[in-house]
Amino acid sequence: MTITISCCVLDAYGTLFDVAAAARQAAAEPGYKALADTWPAIARDWRLKQLQYSWLRAITNAHTDFWDVTADGLDWALNANGLTEQSALRQRLLDLYWELACYSEAPEMLARLKSAGLTTAILSNGSPGMLNGAVQSAGISDLLDDVLSVEEVGVFKPDSRVYDMVGKRFGCAPTNVLFASSNGWDAAGAAGYGFQTVWVNRAAEPVDRLPWTPAHILPDLSGIPDIAGV
Ligand code: LAC
Repeated sequence: MTITISCCVLDAYGTLFDVAAAARQAAAEPGYKALADTWPAIARDWRLKQLQYSWLRAITNAHTDFWDVTADGLDWALNANGLTEQSALRQRLLDLYWELACYSEAPEMLARLKSAGLTTAILSNGSPGMLNGAVQSAGISDLLDDVLSVEEVGVFKPDSRVYDMVGKRFGCAPTNVLFASSNGWDAAGAAGYGFQTVWVNRAAEPVDRLPWTPAHILPDLSGIPDIAGV
């Protein structure tokens, strides 16, 4: 049986937007010499803690928005790398996170989906404000039908109430949704939910050992329209 994709939904951070860009860019700016050697570790620790805190808050029923979780993760990363006293650096990193660029192939990929008549959307842990900042700075708002934030349901992915938001918003069945994420656990969670899934595995990481596996694996976003059948 051929499955028709009517709606293509993308994760935001790490998938459309390069989350390492904030630390990488700040390291290249004058005044932030402390990042010269440490920025890759800061970027890695920041992301890891941000995600861990999102899962821990979801399973303990202690939700706060993703901007708080992002700041908490950064504070842990700065502490772990001996940079707790650097308040200007901390603020610069947070400001850069608000205006992340998208990956270079993202606009053309979204344009192909839209011109074929598919619905396109973001489904993200991000708060509405930070998502709006990133979408505007990446210049992709015209290529998206909607930007769905978990703030509507008050819990983070991979809670199924988040994936439910897609059907509620667009009236589509899970099987007609193609969901793409660079986070292996998010692609797996969405596969378990019943979406068609793409794991965008830029870093050639091993597959997550979870009960569900993504249907497709791509090295970047450019192959998504082919998988969507457009
Ligand atoms: C998001 C996180 C998981 O955008 O990257 O939802």
